[in-house]
Amino acid sequence: MSRGPTAPEQFATARLLLRKPKRDDAEVIFRAYAADAQVSYYMIWRPHATADETRTFVDLCLGQWAEGSEYSYAITEPDRPDHPFGMITMRRRPHEMQFGYVLARAVWGRGYATEALTCLVEWSLSQSEIWRASAFCDVDNRASARVMEKSGMSFEGVLRRYCVHPNISDAPRDCRMYAKIR
Ligand SMILES: CC(C)(COP(=O)(O)OP(=O)(O)OC[C@H]1O[C@@H](n2cnc3c(N)ncnc32)[C@H](O)[C@@H]1OP(=O)(O)O)[C@@H](O)C(=O)NCCC(=O)NCCS
Repeated sequence: MSRGPTAPEQFATARLLLRKPKRDDAEVIFRAYAADAQVSYYMIWRPHATADETRTFVDLCLGQWAEGSEYSYAITEPDRPDHPFGMITMRRRPHEMQFGYVLARAVWGRGYATEALTCLVEWSLSQSEIWRASAFCDVDNRASARVMEKSGMSFEGVLRRYCVHPNISDAPRDCRMYAKIR
């Protein structure tokens, strides 16, 4: 498999700066959302108990950046770049980018997730190797499904027993798959 597109270390949207995370972000991310059980409810991870757990996670993201497998961006406002309040990730597959995202509760409902996802979907589909931009969410995660729709992705179907969301159940859950293609 070719290395594929090398992602830029930052993107600017109308209201957001998406940038490569730094080790120093861990404490802020921990306080902003990583310990919040309501935020992590539909995620594949449990709420973090300590900032060290968040640091381990940020290290993992930086390792994935180094190997070119996954690109996670801290979501910030341009005038407060050292205060990340969310994360959006592009996972590289052979001809596809797969997305995941999370935001602190304090900024829900402002259209930020849609703005960030739309930007990265557009960038992905402008890369010659990428033909498909996709994301999935728990079948009950209505807000996330709406974000994908608003970002121009189409509903492709329910993938049964597709992913474990451990805050809900240890049994794999049905998920809704969305994608935009070119
Ligand atoms: C999902 C999440 C990223 C959305 O972020 P956001 O910035 O608030 O999203 P946006 O403002 O761009 O859009 C949210 C849309 O969902 C809608 N929505 C929110 N809660 C909803 C609910 N319970 N049922 C139906 N729609 C809902 C909003 O009304 C809005 O749609 P609208 O613009 O048509 O009114 C945020 O809620 C979050 O971080 N949740 C926890 C983590 C998570 O679930 N991540 C996704 C995993 S797949």
